[in-house]
Amino acid sequence: MIAFAPGRVNLIGEHTDYNQGLALPFAIDDGVTVDGRAIDANRIDAVAVDLDAEHSFELERPRRIRGWRAFVHGAVAELQRANVPVRGSHLRISGKVPRGAGLSSSAALEVALILALVALTDAPELDRIQLAKIGSKVENDWVGANTGLLDQLASLFGERDRALRIDFRSLDVTPVELELDGHRLVTLDSGERHANAASGYNRRRAECARAAKRLGLQSLRDATLEQAARLPSPLKQRAEHVITENARVEGAVSALQDRDMGRLGGLLDASHASLRDCYEVSTPAVEEAIGKLKSAGALGARIVGGGFGGHVLGLLPPGAEAPDGAIQVRPGPGARLLE
Ligand code: GLA
Repeated sequence: MIAFAPGRVNLIGEHTDYNQGLALPFAIDDGVTVDGRAIDANRIDAVAVDLDAEHSFELERPRRIRGWRAFVHGAVAELQRANVPVRGSHLRISGKVPRGAGLSSSAALEVALILALVALTDAPELDRIQLAKIGSKVENDWVGANTGLLDQLASLFGERDRALRIDFRSLDVTPVELELDGHRLVTLDSGERHANAASGYNRRRAECARAAKRLGLQSLRDATLEQAARLPSPLKQRAEHVITENARVEGAVSALQDRDMGRLGGLLDASHASLRDCYEVSTPAVEEAIGKLKSAGALGARIVGGGFGGHVLGLLPPGAEAPDGAIQVRPGPGARLLE
């Protein structure tokens, strides 16, 4: 039994998921594969092929542990908590998403593990929103990154040639045709890696929660720019980013519907400026990568994912030559069992 879960690129809508906002990601073709088989023992034997590492533990005893092993312990524990009768299994994990690069290698790993472990039981398939929530609990409670649901939902709901408009308040996922009229989306590696848990990510999330609380709101989804203006720095800037970013997601959906690539590019640039200036998650290496895409003629370019390094995304017009190392990305199908 082989489970595959893709990484994702977020077209626009960054740091909005944990603020009950909007985003427009798509699943990519690269991802993590878990080749699983049941074994006749109450144990998990996991092999991380790319890291040349192995790890075993008793099924009854998932525990706190670091690195890639945390994902396996977490997936087992959270499925058990959801009453899935996880079986003793051998899991061979391999992947093509660069780790810590803003393309969501962690969610791909969580989702592939969860799909594989569920498929090895006789339990009925879980609903995909529930699977995403289990993946996110693994990340929050076992890996220590207080990330939202963006990556897991993108990985699980991906569709070929479509981006996904996700409303994180209702958890409605609406496919949006990604027809770019000969333009290309490319990612470029800034060369800088991050660990969400260790970067400023958790701090940003806590700032947003504080901002919402000061405004007497459940989340920043309901905040207005007038309200944000009354907050002290840096909460004011954080809230401004979230409010304007939600509006940019709606703008991008309508630009795609109108096939207006110039407008879409402008929104990508505006998103990046807001992430750099208001949310303060850019770095010199990221700015350099953005500069390369802009010099290549990108209509818009922005950081993708949590920030503090990782990949940037650019929208290149027909005929523009992509900078060295840039990789074209297009929406691919979501997580699935391959056999
Ligand atoms: C990371 C997190 C997501 C999301 C993005 C920022 O990728 O895993 O939940 O918050 O950052 O949009």
